[in-house]
This record gives sequence, C-alpha cells and structure tokens, in this order.
Amino acid sequence: MLDLKRQYAPLHQELLDALDHVLETQQFILGEPVAAFERAAAAQLGVAHALGCSSGTDALWLALAAAGIGPGAAVVTTPFSFFASVSAILRAGATPVLADIDPATFNLDPAAVETVLKGPQGEAVRAILPVHLYGQCSDWTAFARLEKKFGLKLIEDAAQAWGAEWKGTKAGGLGDAAAFSFYPTKNLSAAGDAGMVATNSDDVAERARMLRQHGMRRRYYHDEIGWNARLDGFQAAILSVKLKYIEAWNDARRTVARRYHALFHASGLVESGSYPRNGIVLPHEVPGSRHVWHQYVIRTTRRDQLRALLAERKIGSEIYYPVPLHLQDALKSLGYREGCFPEAERGAREVLAVPIFPELREDEQQTVVNAIAEFLS
Ligand SMILES: Cc1ncc(COP(=O)(O)O)c(C=O)c1O
Repeated sequence: MLDLKRQYAPLHQELLDALDHVLETQQFILGEPVAAFERAAAAQLGVAHALGCSSGTDALWLALAAAGIGPGAAVVTTPFSFFASVSAILRAGATPVLADIDPATFNLDPAAVETVLKGPQGEAVRAILPVHLYGQCSDWTAFARLEKKFGLKLIEDAAQAWGAEWKGTKAGGLGDAAAFSFYPTKNLSAAGDAGMVATNSDDVAERARMLRQHGMRRRYYHDEIGWNARLDGFQAAILSVKLKYIEAWNDARRTVARRYHALFHASGLVESGSYPRNGIVLPHEVPGSRHVWHQYVIRTTRRDQLRALLAERKIGSEIYYPVPLHLQDALKSLGYREGCFPEAERGAREVLAVPIFPELREDEQQTVVNAIAEFLS
C-alpha cells in the first residue's frame, strides 16, 4: 500500500541533522523545534495559528474543546470515517449525531445534515464536524451556508487532507478550527504519533494552547482540566523537514491519481454514476476542490473477492472503512442500527483503496490495474 522507505532514502541525512539539532538544544517537548514547525505550518496553510500536539485524535478533541464544544452540545458528523471523528466528540463531553454521506465523494452530505438540523435532534446541535475523507475537502460552500443559517461552529477533521483546498482555501483555514494527523501513513507524516490544531481565531488558539498542557496558562496554575497533548521536539523537527517537500509530494500524488484514471479507463472497466454494477466506479474530484489523494478508492460490488486476489498477488489494498461508525460495538449507545445510513453502509461494502504514494511508479500501477481487470472481466 505504501513504501515509506522511498520517501526516507533521499531525506536520510537531512532528517538526521534535524534530529541532531534537537539533541543539541535538548528541547524535547514543545520549545523552539515545535514553535518553528508551528510557524512554518501556519504560513503554509495560510492560517493565523498552528498548534502541534500529540496525535490527530488529540487535535480533534482540542479543536472541539477550544471552540467551546462540551457537555450539553451535540455535534453532527459522518458515520464513514476513522473512529476518532466520533470518539473525540464523546471525549469532549458532547453528543455525536450522525448524518449520511454523499455517495460520489464519501464525505458528509450537507443535505442530510440539514435534515438533522431541522429535526428533533437539531435543537442541541452546536457544531458540524465534516471529515475531508481520502484527502478531498467536504463541500464547504454548503457547510458555510448551514453554519450561518443555524448559527453553528464548523470543525474540520483534516487528518487526511494536508494541502487539500476548497475554492482556493486550504483545509485547516476553512472552519473555526481544524485537526490534522501526522500518523506515519498520512501524506504529511511524523515518525510516530503527532497532530496539529489550525485556526484563525486567537481565542480558540489561546484555549487550545492552554488545554494541551493540563489547562495551564501559568506554570503549575491550572485554570481548567486539560490534558497532556503536547508535541515533542523530534517529531516537530521531522515535520519541519517534510513540510518543505509536501507540496511536491501532493503534486506527485495527483499525477499518480491521473495515471490511475487513464489506466482504469483504458481497461474498459469504468462505469459512470456513483454505484458499481459489474465493473468499477472511480473516485471523483469535485470541481473547484483540490484533492490531495491521501487514498485512491474505487468501488466494486465484488470487493472482498477482488481483495483476496490482490493479496494472492502480493498487491496491497485496504478498506477504509469496513464498519461504519454507527455499527461499531463501542458506539452502540448512540442508538443507531443497520439501515440508518444506507450510503455509508453501502460504501463500507464496496470501497477498496489501492496503493497510492508519491513515489509509486507507472509500471506498478499498471500491475494493479491489470490484476483488477483480469479479475473483473
Ligand atoms: C479521518 C481521521 N480522523 C482522525 C484520525 C486520528 O488521527 P491519529 O491517528 O493521529 O490520532 C485519523 C487518523 O487515523 C483519521 O484518518
């Protein structure tokens, strides 16, 4: 699925020098290495504030809590995401309310959200948390309209979307606050767990900074119950190096995605519309958005057999995500059941992510496409 060694090889010495610098300064937690990364990250995203933290999960919690979302508040989000999109809402003390996805993009469907907002659960909703799934921004034009109409906050789960854009604005600067993950498989990745909160609000930034350090504004004076959600200097140093290359890597991902499109079309397997019949449906880039292709996800009705064949051929593939969040055992208490979100449920049965990373070669892509074509024809 992903060969991180190809990214590492040309950066080897630069990364070692960056780590050595942290050792020289002995600033292991927050401090100058983290502050330098935060400045560069904020400049690249075009946001006022970037705050490094311990993971994408903690970034989501910090973004919510710092934006004032807590007990008594409900937050609308998607059932088709990584678990943390919902668990962070619970961790903030708020109540997750789910709405179905758009089958063309797999992102939260603004029309479904509006139905929730107008329904009995709408009263308690204080925020919407769209996830920019697979590296493509959610429909921000529609969510910004809902934000105004219903007086809500918008929190971005941008864990998979460093560098993605909606109508010229980068993910991270669209909502009231945003969360990024630098988990090693993400398109901008650390060498361990790391995350970041981005915001244009001075208030949200100030609160998030306080909450990531046990609610301290002054050392050992605790104003609120925060948490230890700090970023360490080694991760920040690695991220500062990679920040210089991420735009080029995202461009390379876009090239790889274009090549998949051409190769799949040439195979004669591609079907139009959102739902597959006998062939495959390709991922869709919404006009006006800049997809960064964290994942390249096709749809097919014979997904599980296809995946088994790919595994036999030693071709990586993955299912993001096999169980929608409303059907997860840990979230039974939310009160949803099978049938509540048919698009998410159908997506969970049909999606298959094929290998994508900046260094993936055309001959390797051809091998992937040939194997899929052989199986489906
Ligand atoms: C959509 C989404 N949200 C949140 C997270 C949580 O990030 P992390 O694994 O860094 O805690 C991830 C990463 O796995 C993710 O893909």
